[in-house]
Amino acid sequence: MTPAVRACVCPGSFDPLTLGHLDVLLRAADLFDVVHAGVAVNPGKRGLFTGPERAELVRRALADSGDPRAARVVVAEFGDGLLVDHCRRLGAPVVVKGLRSGTDYAYELPMALMNRHLADVETVFLVGDPAYGHVSSSLVKEVARYGGDVSGLVPAAVRAALATRMGEDASDPA
Ligand code: PNS
Repeated sequence: MTPAVRACVCPGSFDPLTLGHLDVLLRAADLFDVVHAGVAVNPGKRGLFTGPERAELVRRALADSGDPRAARVVVAEFGDGLLVDHCRRLGAPVVVKGLRSGTDYAYELPMALMNRHLADVETVFLVGDPAYGHVSSSLVKEVARYGGDVSGLVPAAVRAALATRMGEDASDPA
């Protein structure tokens, strides 16, 4: 039976959100009534931003986008657990991920197969906008760390947060 509300989860580390992520979240909202942006927080892995900071930046970027589809995107962290359990809790049996390249596909395919094996959670892949084919959170952090310009790569709120965080790190005597 088709659920009355079609919901999906767009999971990721979002450390930090890029314009490529934002594009996928909004395009997922073209296909689903509710998109749950799932900010994955791995307690064993120290990110540049904490889970709450990353989630807040996703919320700010959605609000600042002025895009009406943003109203259908809900942001929540999911901590130390399986994505399929997060999907089950939310009543969202579909995962949506963006693909920039064949390398992304090779990384995503085993996870998609595992999620279907574990809980019949299907994965829908959206072809990434080629304008963001070179944009990843890790490259954005590297560019920002060395003082490069990240405009055109991340939303304004993320750009500001990166500048602040890199400044804090530079003044940290540790
Ligand atoms: O943005 P990322 O880091 O590529 O996102 C990867 C993420 C968080 C979606 C993936 O690692 C994940 O689903 N983690 C949750 C743990 C899990 O469910 N593992 C088994 C699925 S294969």
